Amino acid sequence: MLACKTKSLNAFEGWIFMDLSNYCLESLSWRYAVKKFDSQKKIPSESIELLSQSLRLSPSSYGLQPWRFIIIENQDLKNELKAFSYNQSQMSDCSHLVVFQALEQIDEAYLSNFISLVSKIRSQPESHLEGYKNIMIQDLIKGPRSQQIPLWAGKQAYIAMGFLMSYASFLKIDTCAIEGLEPVKYDNLLNAKLAKSALGNTLVNTQNDLATANTPSNNYKTLAAVALGYRSPEDKYQSSPKVRFDKNQVIINL
Ligand SMILES: Cc1cc2nc3c(=O)[nH]c(=O)nc-3n(C[C@H](O)[C@H](O)[C@H](O)COP(=O)(O)O)c2cc1C
Repeated sequence: MLACKTKSLNAFEGWIFMDLSNYCLESLSWRYAVKKFDSQKKIPSESIELLSQSLRLSPSSYGLQPWRFIIIENQDLKNELKAFSYNQSQMSDCSHLVVFQALEQIDEAYLSNFISLVSKIRSQPESHLEGYKNIMIQDLIKGPRSQQIPLWAGKQAYIAMGFLMSYASFLKIDTCAIEGLEPVKYDNLLNAKLAKSALGNTLVNTQNDLATANTPSNNYKTLAAVALGYRSPEDKYQSSPKVRFDKNQVIINL
C-alpha cells in the first residue's frame, strides 16, 4: 500500500486498496465500548504480540515515548483491579487488560539516554543530535512545559490508546477504554507487583531500553486502562447505533 504514495495504482492494487480501506472503516464502525465480555474467550498470544507492537509503534512528541503499558492476563490481578475500577465487569471478564501509565517527570538523564538510543539506532554521532537535545531541554526541562510533564506525557499515552483500539478492531478484537478507575490504588498495587517481579525498579529487558533504564518504576502514573477480549452475544450495546455529531459539525474543510 505504500506504493500508492509514489505511483498510481494498477487495477489489482486498486481493488486491494479499496477493499482494505473499506475493511478498516468497517472495523472502526464495528468497534464499540464493550460492556460485557465473553469471559471464556481468550486472545491468543500471537495477537497479544501484534497488539503490543501497535502500542510500541505509536508516535509521541519528540519521539520520547513517555509511557509504559502493563499487559495483564492474570485473573487474580484483574479481579483485584476491578475493585479499584468501580467494579466494572469488563475488568474481570476481559481476556487481557492494558494499563496505560505516563511519566511524571523528565530529567536530563532521560533525554541523554534517549539521544544515545537515537544515535545507536540511526548510526548518527551524538554530536549531530545536540541541537535536538537542546530544544527538548529548553522546552521540557527549562521551559513552561516543565511544569506540565504529567499532562504532556498523558496526552502521548492517549495517542497509544487510540492506536491500540483501532488496531484491535482490525484484528476483530474487542475493547473498552476505562477511565473509571482509581489511579493511585492502581499505582500502589502495580508497583508492589512489579517490585516483586524480575523487572524490579527498572525496565531493562531489550536492546533499546536505554531511555528507560534509569527510570524508577514509581515515576510512571496510571491514567487509564483498556480491556481487551471478545464481546458476549448478550451485550446489548453491540446493537446500539453510534451516537456521533454530524460530520459537518466536527469536520471543517477549508
Ligand atoms: C478515554 C475513555 C474512557 C472511557 N471510560 C469508560 C469507562 O470507564 N467505562 C465504560 O464502560 N466505558 C468507558 N468509555 C467508553 C465510552 O463511554 C464510549 O467510547 C463512548 O460512549 C462512545 O461509544 P462507542 O465507543 O461504543 O462508540 C471510555 C472511553 C474513552 C475513550
